[in-house]
Amino acid sequence: MASFFVLPSQHEELARDEIISISKSYDTKTRVQSSPRLVFVESKVSWKKIASRSTFSRYSGEIVNTFEDVSHIDLPIPRPASFVCRTINLSSKKIGTSLERQIGGMLKRKWGSQVSLSNPHLTVYVIVTDDKKYLGITDCIVNPVHPVKAVKHPHELDMKLGRCVVNLSQLNEKKTLCDPFCGTGTILLEAESMGINAIGIDYDKIMCKITSKNLSANGFCSKVINSEYNKMLEFKEEIDGIVTDLPYGISSRSSVSPQRLVKDFLSIVPKRKKLVMVYKKGLEVEEMNKAKKYEIYRHKSLTRIIGVSS
Ligand SMILES: C[S@@+](CC[C@H](N)C(=O)[O-])C[C@H]1O[C@@H](n2cnc3c(N)ncnc32)[C@H](O)[C@@H]1O
Repeated sequence: MASFFVLPSQHEELARDEIISISKSYDTKTRVQSSPRLVFVESKVSWKKIASRSTFSRYSGEIVNTFEDVSHIDLPIPRPASFVCRTINLSSKKIGTSLERQIGGMLKRKWGSQVSLSNPHLTVYVIVTDDKKYLGITDCIVNPVHPVKAVKHPHELDMKLGRCVVNLSQLNEKKTLCDPFCGTGTILLEAESMGINAIGIDYDKIMCKITSKNLSANGFCSKVINSEYNKMLEFKEEIDGIVTDLPYGISSRSSVSPQRLVKDFLSIVPKRKKLVMVYKKGLEVEEMNKAKKYEIYRHKSLTRIIGVSS
């Protein structure tokens, strides 16, 4: 059975690629089918695993069937003790609640199950697109659980974006990630919360202390090293990918411009390591020309670029 994931309209491409990356981190033969605001995944990994990691997916579950006419609906699954029917309208037309009421009524007659709006054993999703109508099911709602941040900082990544960039790296539980500009540790926290080993580096002692506090607030044990980013070369055999968020401006400790820093950093990134790099729009360097890029507007003086190179 294929899994489905409904995507938000904002950051749709990023959300789609995040889902695909998570699935590929467990199963490189993942098959994907896309339609606007919807992605179907056929993979060895369960949809619940993908949903528990994904940042942006709104609704998820398994696709059971498609239908054209309500009278021809076939939902070949065991009778649930209780259920609810919900419509997800991804089409360009307005649809009211009559479709879900009609299908809900039909399933109630067929199954004789109770309808439970608040705590159903099964949710039946009627997903309507401009091309097709799908029937999806889920027996639970799965949402990611973010780690806590004991100490915050104005320049930190938000946890959602932190999780998303870790997922774009296509690393899973058996792998190790390095963030050589770890700041308050957002990327390390999200990585370790998903079972990925992480090593953080920051040349600012205070940032390293903040990261350590944030890690211990979650009972995490990722390594934190107070050093220049090039320290990562000492671990290059250990690490499978680099996921990082570069400085956006000139820091008080460094006279190197952010543009220079991006270039210098990229010149030492070990070849054949997956790289996911967040940087300020405007700092583009030609080394990232071939990378897949996503723009995230934060405020009028900060638009972030997420660059993913393989
Ligand atoms: C944009 S911040 C990272 C924020 C982090 N993602 C978070 O969520 O807190 C960039 C970090 O790079 C560190 N940094 C700047 N230059 C560095 C260098 N040459 N080597 C290592 N770290 C450096 C800064 O101290 C800062 O904490």
